[in-house]
Amino acid sequence: MADFVSGFWNVYVIGLVVLSLLFCLFILVSNNKREAGPVELHGHVWDENLAEYNNPLPRWWLYLFWITLVFSIVYLALYPGLGNVKGILGWTSIGQYEAEQARAADRYGPIFAKYREMDVAAVASDPDAQGMGQRLFLTYCAQCHGSDARGAKGFPNLADSSWQWGGEPEAIRATITDGRMGAMIPFGATLGPDGVKDVANYVRSLSGLAHDSLRAQRGAEAFQQNCVACHGADAKGMAALGAPDLTDENWLWGSSEAVIVETITHGRMNRMPGFGEFLGQDKVHLLTAYVWGLSNKPSR
Ligand code: HEC
Ligand code: HEC
Repeated sequence: MADFVSGFWNVYVIGLVVLSLLFCLFILVSNNKREAGPVELHGHVWDENLAEYNNPLPRWWLYLFWITLVFSIVYLALYPGLGNVKGILGWTSIGQYEAEQARAADRYGPIFAKYREMDVAAVASDPDAQGMGQRLFLTYCAQCHGSDARGAKGFPNLADSSWQWGGEPEAIRATITDGRMGAMIPFGATLGPDGVKDVANYVRSLSGLAHDSLRAQRGAEAFQQNCVACHGADAKGMAALGAPDLTDENWLWGSSEAVIVETITHGRMNRMPGFGEFLGQDKVHLLTAYVWGLSNKPSR
């Protein structure tokens, strides 16, 4: 309500509310006759013979209306609701949210602090901490990585031991805190459709998939010229750039020739959002331990 562009709307809303209340008041007062007087028919007839008497409204029923009227006036005096008027109590939804946040921080802060002191391997072997980590994961991460953390096309599997950006606790922490941007540049124009197909066959040969060996041979050369800068001379990837290992059987986008051709032709832009500021380091620590623990069996 505080964000009206012009003061007119503020006055307009206040006017509407006050007019409605006055109208209710008028209706109530004008129907407030106590004595029934001689009971007469109203003159309204429905369904041929259904007629209405002009009895006064029942008292209890009328009182309900009075109560709602008084309630709304008291409410509008105490709470925000009448245009920009803030209300005597100064209540705001933001204020309530912040108070709840502060209460939660008081309550859970010490628990988080305890785990914050422990290293990732120790947290990963604590069942309570892993339970908290899993709940956080289901809330903030599962929509992209899946509830079992096994990912989907374009969203990496976090439960295996193959890592784009590194699987050591500090690398995982950095990924979650700051996010990552995987950028594979397009080569369609440089290599042409035939050249792309050659390299794609070479890439498939690296992990022992069926391939055209003549194309793969030609592709090997193009790979050395164009791809090793990021994927490494051995094609085993480079964590600093998020370039994946092309020799294993884990695929982010897919291993079919068609998908590899698409990746090489058009490139890929893939973003992992950063959660450091939003969740705070305590929760990131629990999540780091949870994700690390998925592929590292900590000793119990
Ligand atoms: C909006 C979708 C999205 C959400 C939400 C998301 N991620 Fe990701 N995440 C991605 C994408 C996409 C990548 C791959 C980035 C790339 O290709 O460079 C990724 C990569 C990662 C990696 C690196 C994997 C590797 O192989 O190096 C980790 C670890 C990770 N995410 C953990 C998390 C955690 C923990 C959460 C919850 C706090 C989370 N992600 C939430 C989309 C998401
Ligand atoms: C600028 C660095 C860079 C260069 C150069 C580069 N790549 Fe990549 N490549 C990446 C990154 C980063 C990814 C991961 C993209 C993502 O996060 O989705 C990737 C992904 C891929 C994938 C998908 C792997 C999967 O698991 O689905 C293939 C295939 C691939 N690159 C092949 C190549 C080939 C072939 C070349 C040379 C023609 C090449 N790349 C050149 C950085 C590079």
